[in-house]
Amino acid sequence: MTETLELEARYSSGVYVKRPVTIVRGEGALLWDEQGRQYVDCVGGQGTANLGHANPAVTAALTTQAQRLIACPEIFPNDQRAALMARLSQLTGLPRVFLCNSGAESVEAAIKFARAATGRPEIIAARRGFHGRTLGALSATWNQAYREPFEPLVPGFRHVPYNHLEALSQAINENTAAVILEAVQGEGGVHPGKPEYLQGAARLCQERGALFILDEVQTGFGRTGRMFAFQHYDLRPDLLCLAKSIAGGVPMGATLIGERVGTLPAHIHGSTFGGNPLACAAALATLSELERLDLPRRAAENGAYFLAQLRQVRSPLIREVRGVGLLVGVELRRKAAPFLQMLMERGVLALSAGMNVIRFLPPLVISREQLDCVVATLTQVLAEPVAEQETVPA
Ligand SMILES: Cc1ncc(COP(=O)(O)O)c(C=O)c1O
Repeated sequence: MTETLELEARYSSGVYVKRPVTIVRGEGALLWDEQGRQYVDCVGGQGTANLGHANPAVTAALTTQAQRLIACPEIFPNDQRAALMARLSQLTGLPRVFLCNSGAESVEAAIKFARAATGRPEIIAARRGFHGRTLGALSATWNQAYREPFEPLVPGFRHVPYNHLEALSQAINENTAAVILEAVQGEGGVHPGKPEYLQGAARLCQERGALFILDEVQTGFGRTGRMFAFQHYDLRPDLLCLAKSIAGGVPMGATLIGERVGTLPAHIHGSTFGGNPLACAAALATLSELERLDLPRRAAENGAYFLAQLRQVRSPLIREVRGVGLLVGVELRRKAAPFLQMLMERGVLALSAGMNVIRFLPPLVISREQLDCVVATLTQVLAEPVAEQETVPA
């Protein structure tokens, strides 16, 4: 074991299952470990690295801002923050912005704002949905393994089947503050929302005085082939949760606030680090780079190419290949974990989504050659003998 692996094994909390590879450097869609081994990165910092690693514009923005001002809480206006808020509002069409530090925090804010704005207590979420692990966000998350050790969770949350408009319609009533949905369920297995479902959810909320919260923490910033996934569907959420790639990998989250939320009373929420100038400078550079490099379009084109290539892989282990843009899942008839290990040994890093889905979340700068390499490596790995495993039910 190397010194780094040993130190992390000894001192880390224990809540993460760590892969035995110490990552020390990245560039574009490539990563290197401390032995100098190169990997094609389809983990993409779990969706935080849409821009690719070591982007020079983000590095320069961080360096300049670090020399100017790092700490400035929101009680004082700041030039970087003001510019970022204006930019996010312009990009999303939503008039106001709350800045925070992670996806779960952006969801917490949305839940609180929905309750405060409507005076109603209930939040409807979807089965298989994932919204984070802090207690409010966890209450909206579906996976029982994440929830059960921490019960009782926040009261007033209900889960209905995803992509089932009738079930949602039956659930929304005069106590519903908000419906919270992902545009594509990422962590829950890469299940794209049907356009008529997402549009119907927004419409039902509007008709019944509830707010529509769209969680684009994973799908935002070009991932699905548009800057935001809601732009595929011609709809506008009342509250939009953003994080992950917003600041090129620097921790940041944002909750965008639509007109139906109205004015929020002072002091009902806040964050010491929220709107930190360093993160704001990184986010401004990230947004410019996403546009300059035309990354949403590249995600659409290369995502379609990648899906088509993956669909040509002939293996009895594959149940389905699905995805939008460069958020792609390969559902297996077996557990994904041994295949992720074999992919890593052959120089490809990928994620799971649930027990039996291999999830590819590469930086959007990934090239066709690199995607070809991922497909070829997956083909090899699926053809290799692995220890006998039971079929995972559909
Ligand atoms: C859709 C969605 N919402 C919220 C979160 C939570 O984000 P964070 O881990 O930054 O708290 C995630 C994380 O994977 C996510 O995919």
